Amino acid sequence: MAIHYVAKVEDFAGGECIIVDINGLSIGVYQLGKKFYALYNRCPHEGAPLCKGPITGTNLPSKVYEYEYSQGEIVRCPWHGWEFDIKTGKSLFNDKVRTRSYRIEINEGRVGIII
Ligand code: FES
Repeated sequence: MAIHYVAKVEDFAGGECIIVDINGLSIGVYQLGKKFYALYNRCPHEGAPLCKGPITGTNLPSKVYEYEYSQGEIVRCPWHGWEFDIKTGKSLFNDKVRTRSYRIEINEGRVGIII
């Protein structure tokens, strides 16, 4: 495994996703709060560039007439709307459906992806 430094921490000022290419592998890097996450930029459904989808929240399972909303930790596939947890890469509808996630290391203000 190797660390690939792809950005600086200050590049993530607006909470957006930065998509990087590492040896032909497209990866989306996210900052949620003070932590960073990286997901393979390919939807397991039909191969859409998943990380170009909006960062959003979603309704969580709840009782009838009660609504529980999770904010800003979900990426929604731009093609058909499947939703994935940015922290884990797991889809919201099935734990076995996921996109690959990668570990991140921060070193002297640089964001590194461990592959
Ligand atoms: S390609 Fe992502 S939901 Fe269909």
